[in-house]
Amino acid sequence: MKALILAGGKGTRLKPLTNTIAKQLLPVANKPILFYVLDQIKEAGITDIGIIISPETGSYIKEAVGDGSKWNAQITYILQPEPLGLAHAVKTAQDFLGDSPFLMFLGDNLIQGGIVQFVEQFNRSSPDALILLKVVKETHLFGIAELDEKGKVYRIEEKPKHPKSNLAVIGVYIFSPAVHEAIAYIKPSWRGELEITDSIQRLIDTKKNVQSYILDGWWLDTGKKDDLLEANRVVLDDLLKCDIKGEIDTASQIVGRVEIRPGTKIGNSTIRGPVSIAENCQIRSSFIGPFTSIGAGTVIQNSSIEHSVILQDCHIINIERLADSIIGKGTEVIKEEQTFKALRLFLGDDAKVEL
Ligand code: DAU
Repeated sequence: MKALILAGGKGTRLKPLTNTIAKQLLPVANKPILFYVLDQIKEAGITDIGIIISPETGSYIKEAVGDGSKWNAQITYILQPEPLGLAHAVKTAQDFLGDSPFLMFLGDNLIQGGIVQFVEQFNRSSPDALILLKVVKETHLFGIAELDEKGKVYRIEEKPKHPKSNLAVIGVYIFSPAVHEAIAYIKPSWRGELEITDSIQRLIDTKKNVQSYILDGWWLDTGKKDDLLEANRVVLDDLLKCDIKGEIDTASQIVGRVEIRPGTKIGNSTIRGPVSIAENCQIRSSFIGPFTSIGAGTVIQNSSIEHSVILQDCHIINIERLADSIIGKGTEVIKEEQTFKALRLFLGDDAKVEL
């Protein structure tokens, strides 16, 4: 079995962060989302991996993943000139996929517990497609599937106005080569995309065997700001282990599960986990509260931060209380110690400041 990771698209909903980084590389608990995907594919024993990239962010993905040797995998990068839909991405990858069955994983999705059982189910029963489903509340945001009593999918609809079930299609699928014929048949949807859901419906209409697997654990689609904060919260809560490699002075206190990577110095501060602090940071006279990740090389002084994601090389100085925030790399958030209350801002395109 091969794997196809979709790491193209424009990341519009995560601007301005995605002006300089692919959305699939945004960190969750100080690790790029795409690396969780690659780890889970490796764990399932798949080593021949294609990655769909876009002209805008493909170079960032190539730089981060390289030749795949970190995952003992062979990586083929496939350029999709425009984000014309998930099925269009499969069409673009057809030469790479050949007549092999393949696992397709959306590069901005995270799932708990990996995909080993899912791959095993496919290998056991050899359906034409196997889709991963999860019960959700916000049914209008996803592909929605209807099942018969044996778990066979008989209808699937993309972001329906009047959903007939609460089972969302998660961004992990396994297809037999029969999907290529279905994709060749379908037409672009109302949003101008070749939808993978329409291709699956075509498989059903032509009496192919489309099975489902319902995920019990968490599933995180990291497409928007709040989704990313929630992903950071869930992953820190679930996966973080206590691991202190930095230097902590005697005036500091570490409480709960905290990861501090090498080269980081903590002085006169309290860190209350779950918190992940990457390499070479300096934290002075500050409080870092639960569900916070701080990227490498960041300096935090005289500040209090919680439930936030701070990327690398930031300076946060004299900020009394920063919460529920995502701060892009190289950003300075500094309050001068002076009496007049003017705000002096130097913000990039699409920035958002809530005071
Ligand atoms: O997250 C699950 C949902 O993903 C499913 O429930 C939907 O059925 C499915 O259509 C998809 O919906 P989205 O509209 O949320 O997909 P999005 O545009 O966010 O793209 C998902 C990933 O695929 C993202 O990492 C970007 C990448 N992508 C997307 C498109 C449209 C590509 O690589 N190429 C593309 O053409």
